[in-house]
Amino acid sequence: MAVRLEENRTAGLAEEILRLKREKNAVILAHNYQRPEVQDIADVLGDSLALARAAVRTDADVIVFCGVHFMAETAAVLNPDKTVLLPDLEAGCSLADSITADALRAWKAEHPGAVVVAYVNTSAEVKAESDYCCTSSNAVQVVQSIPEDREILFLPDMFLGSYVKRVTGRENMHIWMGECHVHAGIRPHDIEATLGAHPDAELLIHPECGCSTSNMYLLAEGRLPADRTHVLSTSGMLQRARESEKRAFIVATEVGILYQMERQNPGKTFIPANRAAVCPFMKMITLEKVRDALADLKTVVSVPSDVAERARIAIERMVAIG
Ligand code: 13P
Ligand code: SF4
Repeated sequence: MAVRLEENRTAGLAEEILRLKREKNAVILAHNYQRPEVQDIADVLGDSLALARAAVRTDADVIVFCGVHFMAETAAVLNPDKTVLLPDLEAGCSLADSITADALRAWKAEHPGAVVVAYVNTSAEVKAESDYCCTSSNAVQVVQSIPEDREILFLPDMFLGSYVKRVTGRENMHIWMGECHVHAGIRPHDIEATLGAHPDAELLIHPECGCSTSNMYLLAEGRLPADRTHVLSTSGMLQRARESEKRAFIVATEVGILYQMERQNPGKTFIPANRAAVCPFMKMITLEKVRDALADLKTVVSVPSDVAERARIAIERMVAIG
């Protein structure tokens, strides 16, 4: 009975959102970590790069961003003439908070002439101080596109940075010591224990994970199955799960992604490397908040034009690569 009531409530809210969306000529973009019911109402569901690209393509007047603040800011920078809504303005990101524009300016002063590559999980102010943006799906290509003799400052994620440095073999790359508290909590021990319990499973690892760099060592030493270990963005993981012939997968990232994995692959099994890997910021977005934001066109995210102009250069380079 309680389940039926909840289903009816969700269906009612989804209908209301659909109606408001048409009325306001809005598009709903949602990240792969969103709550299942929010994923269900999205026009576009994807990783950070796919969502940034969708924000460029849309001809809607209003973009409702179901994700976190830096993602909505990126959409606002790319669309100065559109209204960008983040249904809860408190939906932040611990990784983006690990560096400020002042701290970056001080770091740049220590390395004059270095090229700054900022992961998309940064504020617009930090992006405005950067030369390139990247996401987990094109970080390697972005770094490879920079002439080898140029020093690089990579920020803010130390695990993604170490992964990129290892893959590209780039020695003149300095890495900011930031981390995402959700991914840092997925430790090498979690991978080993889960692999021990599911020895034939394929391993899908997000490069922000605390386990990803040590896994590169374990891989090099042959202690992880190289043919079954993949370091991928969230959308890359979803694609791999669809295309692989394996039946079981260990998933090392935020657990919200399991919803689409299971939906898209009936008969395959997905085992989270750490069930506690839940991003509290991503879960702040609810259907009620989406409805309220759309109804009143509120919780608008905007970026001052001088900051947006400088940030846009780095973001457009990111959107163009990979
Ligand atoms: P993706 O770009 O791989 O979706 O990652 C975004 C993010 O915030 C990971 O925590
Ligand atoms: Fe930020 Fe981590 Fe949440 Fe991704 S999972 S939005 S990096 S806090």
